[in-house]
Amino acid sequence: MKKNIILIGFMGVGKGTTARAFAKKYEVYNIDTDDLIESKENKEVKKIFEKKGEAYFRKLEQKTADWIIDSVQGTLISCGGGFYKVKNLHKMGTVVLLDASFDWILNRLKTAKNSESKLAKRPLFSQEAEAKKLYDEREKAYKKVADVIVNVEGKSLEEIVKEIAKKCRVQ
Ligand code: S3P
Repeated sequence: MKKNIILIGFMGVGKGTTARAFAKKYEVYNIDTDDLIESKENKEVKKIFEKKGEAYFRKLEQKTADWIIDSVQGTLISCGGGFYKVKNLHKMGTVVLLDASFDWILNRLKTAKNSESKLAKRPLFSQEAEAKKLYDEREKAYKKVADVIVNVEGKSLEEIVKEIAKKCRVQ
């Protein structure tokens, strides 16, 4: 795999979980834009939002995108839910949207084993109604920017991973 695969989609849709499963099956590295930002700032995303604000976080996302374009190849990259707005997203690699309805995502987050921590680390998911508003605002934009769309509802992790590989022609 020469080109990167860029996984985008709403908070809680399963980008991280999918990225890890894909990396294992296809023997590639996977990195996560939130992890890169946290390691660079030595601070959790939640704390960056609290201390420096969302605009500052968005600048860090752009810096991360620029670094990936210059420095990363053949890697599966899972992105924060708002990362799709960076400039030159397509220069990073093939953009794959993991798609699901808001209700499906909510149910996934609420029924997860570590549900509390999954919700607590996401400042923009602290209020359900606000999160739904954000989902509605972004839904069309995600689809517009995606090279490939994979609907994840009712599919096993293995099926999702295989579908991504097929649509991105990874062997
Ligand atoms: C955000 C999603 C989060 C994280 C930050 C902002 C967003 O990532 O980047 O809290 O704007 O949707 P996940 O999609 O991994 O939760």
